[in-house]
This record gives sequence, structure tokens and C-alpha cells, in this order.
Amino acid sequence: MFPRIIKMNVRVFYLFIVLTYANGQDRQMVSKLNMGCDRCDPKQNPLVYIRAQSSKDTIHQLWDFTDHVPAVVYAIGSPNSTLQINWSPSLSPILFNFSEPLFYSFSTAIESIIEYDDIKDNANYDPRCVSKIHPLDDMSWQLVDSILTDKEAKVVLNGDGGKRGKIEMKLDLLPFEDYATDLPHLIHTANSTLIDIKLVNLTESRDFNASRFALRFVMIGTDPPADSWSMNMRKSLDDEHTPGVFEIIEIKSPESIKSGNGGFMQFRPVAYTEAERGVSSSTNAYISSFNRTRIPRHSILRQFYKDYFRQTDTHDVVQQDMVVSFGMAGDGFYRQHNFTSWSFNFGYGSPPLEGFSMFVVIIISIGLGVPVLLTLSGIIYVLSRRCKQRNPPARFTNDE
Ligand SMILES: *[C@@H]1O[C@H](CO)[C@@H](O)[C@H](O)[C@H]1NC(C)=O
Ligand SMILES: *[C@@H]1O[C@H](CO)[C@@H](O)[C@H](O)[C@H]1NC(C)=O
Ligand SMILES: *[C@@H]1O[C@H](CO)[C@@H](O)[C@H](O)[C@H]1NC(C)=O
Ligand SMILES: *[C@@H]1O[C@H](CO)[C@@H](O)[C@H](O)[C@H]1NC(C)=O
Ligand SMILES: *[C@@H]1O[C@H](CO)[C@@H](O)[C@H](O)[C@H]1NC(C)=O
Ligand SMILES: *[C@@H]1O[C@H](CO)[C@@H](O)[C@H](O)[C@H]1NC(C)=O
Repeated sequence: MFPRIIKMNVRVFYLFIVLTYANGQDRQMVSKLNMGCDRCDPKQNPLVYIRAQSSKDTIHQLWDFTDHVPAVVYAIGSPNSTLQINWSPSLSPILFNFSEPLFYSFSTAIESIIEYDDIKDNANYDPRCVSKIHPLDDMSWQLVDSILTDKEAKVVLNGDGGKRGKIEMKLDLLPFEDYATDLPHLIHTANSTLIDIKLVNLTESRDFNASRFALRFVMIGTDPPADSWSMNMRKSLDDEHTPGVFEIIEIKSPESIKSGNGGFMQFRPVAYTEAERGVSSSTNAYISSFNRTRIPRHSILRQFYKDYFRQTDTHDVVQQDMVVSFGMAGDGFYRQHNFTSWSFNFGYGSPPLEGFSMFVVIIISIGLGVPVLLTLSGIIYVLSRRCKQRNPPARFTNDE
């Protein structure tokens, strides 16, 4: 009995694999490093541009490291829209020229690292803690790895903050839906970029004895400036992909709340204190509420939205910030590991929903199948007993 079920499920599994690959790409992707700048150093403070086209629209993405503060910009236009970037003689981008007006744009930037003295050991960032703000406007970024093809766009960067320590960032975009290979196995799609951040050997202030480090994000959307990004915590169906973590936090831009066609950030409230991500190295990630702020001075966003306003009838954007902090009470603070890594998904449209995997489907089908088969075999046994009583005795064989 069992081998047949397993054979059937293996067949379903193969069919699943074949269908997944036959589906191919959801968007046609083109990615370029320092587009329009021949003299730029490809390894130092790069600007990655990705164009991802579908029949309905084109997503233009910029992953910018040219002006210290790392920023990810999304701009949505018609399928045929194109972008041209002009560069200054000092090799900074100075003009973002779209071929036609855009529908919508949103972006995020990591403006600063907040070091807070968590003497009460609450773990999450509390604005009442004594804290120091370390703006990222003196970071320099080195490209240490990249794949920029029409099948994948991925970059890995080392951010050097001098004596303050190191920030590593990895950005990855695939033109189809997939689970990330690393925990917490977030789902990313052709509409969203997966971003990993590592805070490595950050130097603590000597006058703090309970330092923890948090990230301050600036969130921008081309919505009326009085509107607001909003946050929602969702419970997932199962923790198969992220053992022990059932919550998913989703942050949406005003347009996303209104029509579904806006920006989102999605993550699990979990971070890791060792390079090897696992259940034993996991810790909590927390998010603050939003506050109004301004676009950071040292980021591409100022120039980008100045050009954006020139080409549309918008004149201002929503500008808010929020703080993501890490740790658990009693964990010995940041210095216990001198390492924190965390992942999030930043994208356009509806945040991806996790489905049941083939493994769970197999378990469920075995779970439902076995009782059904037992009932059936019981019925067959009873029927065959009745038959036996009428016919001459014969040996009942089961070759399975
Ligand atoms: C986009 O360009 C193609 C080919 O140049 C053209 O056939 C099509 O009509 C254009 N679509 C729009 C929406 O302008
Ligand atoms: C940190 O230092 C303050 C005084 O400077 C002290 O009251 C507090 O107990 C210390 N906290 C820890 C966790 O060592
Ligand atoms: C938001 O702003 C208020 C008022 O300025 C301030 O008290 C609060 O600490 C800020 N929140 C965060 C998370 O920075
Ligand atoms: C991506 O966005 C397009 C609309 O722009 C939508 O039709 C599509 O379903 C989205 N794909 C995913 C996987 O969210
Ligand atoms: C962080 O510091 C430790 C100890 O000083 C060192 O062994 C380790 O290699 C450093 N990590 C990185 C990624 O530089
Ligand atoms: C982390 O760095 C501090 C100095 O900044 C050092 O005292 C501590 O031993 C380091 N911890 C580990 C686990 O390496």
C-alpha cells in the first residue's frame, strides 16, 4: 500500500518541478552597473539599475551606494518606459530622465545606525534610552560580488565605516517567485528584492555598558505628504520555513493600502547573531512606530525625486522613518556576539503569501490517505470474508 502512495507523490512532485520551471520568468529583466557611466569604478560605491518589464508595467529599480547612505528606489511606469541617467564630471548621478511620466514611486534608505544603552535590558529600541546616532553619511561601499544578468540581479557589498565597524549588504532579485536559501526563507518574487544586512564588529561607545545597535530606515512614497505608511502583523499558517516564527510583519505605502499597487516591506521578526543562521543563533527583531522626517542629505533620493517632480504633477512625497532593533533580554547585548544579521523583502504590489509546500502536501495526503485506505481495506476484508463463505477456500494474496 505505502509504496504506491509514495510512487504517486513522487510523480506529483516531478510534475510540480516541471510546471515550476516551464512557467519561466514573470518579468523580463535587464540589469546594469553604473548605467551611462563608462569611467566609473565598477567596484567602488556602485549604482545598480534593474528594469523588469511585464505586459502591464515596468518596474525600474535603483540600488544606490554612490552617496554613502544606501538606498533602494522603485519607480513604476508603462511597459515601454525607459530611464536614462546622466553623470557629473565627478562621477555622481545628476539626472534621472524617464522617457515618460511614471505611475508611482517609493523607496527606502538606511539613514543611520542608532546605538542605544539598554541598561534596563528591554532589548527593543526605546527612544527614552540614552542613545547615539551614527549617520551613514561617511560610509564607503565596495562591491565584493555580483551577478547582473537577465536571469538574476545580485550584489554583495562591504560598507566600511572606518573605526566604527562594518556593514555588509546583499541584494537579490529573481524574475520569478522563490524562497530565499537562507533562513528565514522569505519568499521573493519578480516584484520584490530580498535584502540581507549584517552588522559586523561594530564598535561600542565606551560610556555605554549595554550597547545595542538599531537601523533607522527612511520610507518615501509619492503619495500626499500627510499620508502615512502603515504596519500590520500577520500570523502565518505554519512555521515550516522558519521554525518557531509564525509572525510576518508587513509595512505598506499609502498607495499600497489604497489600491494594492504601491510599495511594501515584509519580514519575519527574527534576526541572527552568528554567520551560520539557525534556530540556536536566532534572536528577535523589533520595529518602532513611524515618525515624520526628511529625505537624508547624503542619498540619491533628493536628486531622484527632484527629477521625478519635474516629470509629474507631484511636488512632495511622504517622508517617514522607523527603527528596527534586535536582541533578547538577557542575551548579553551586542558585544556577546558582535554580529547581527537580518533579512527583509522590499517590493511592489501585494506582499507574497506562503503556501503549503510539497512536503506538507505529502504529509497531509498520507495523513488523509491512510485512514481512507484502512477503511477501504476493512470493507474489502469483510466482503472477501462473505465471498469466502460462499466459494471454496482460496488463499488471499497481496503482492504490494
Ligand atoms: C510599446 O512599444 C511597442 C513597440 O515599439 C509598440 O508596439 C507598443 O504599442 C508600445 N506600447 C505602448 C503602451 O506605448
Ligand atoms: C550600567 O552602568 C550603570 C551605571 O553606570 C549601572 O547602574 C547599571 O547597572 C549597568 N548595567 C549593566 C547591565 O551592567
Ligand atoms: C517620534 O517622534 C517623537 C516626537 O518627536 C519622539 O518622542 C519619539 O521618540 C520618536 N519615535 C522614534 C521611534 O524615534
Ligand atoms: C507583480 O506585479 C504585477 C502587476 O504589476 C502583477 O500582475 C503580478 O501578479 C505581480 N506578481 C507577483 C508574484 O506578485
Ligand atoms: C570580528 O572580530 C573578530 C575578533 O576580533 C574577528 O575574529 C573576526 O574575523 C571579525 N569579523 C569580521 C567579519 O571581520
Ligand atoms: C566584541 O567586541 C568587544 C569589544 O568591542 C570585545 O570586548 C568582546 O570580547 C567581543 N565579543 C566577542 C564575542 O568577540
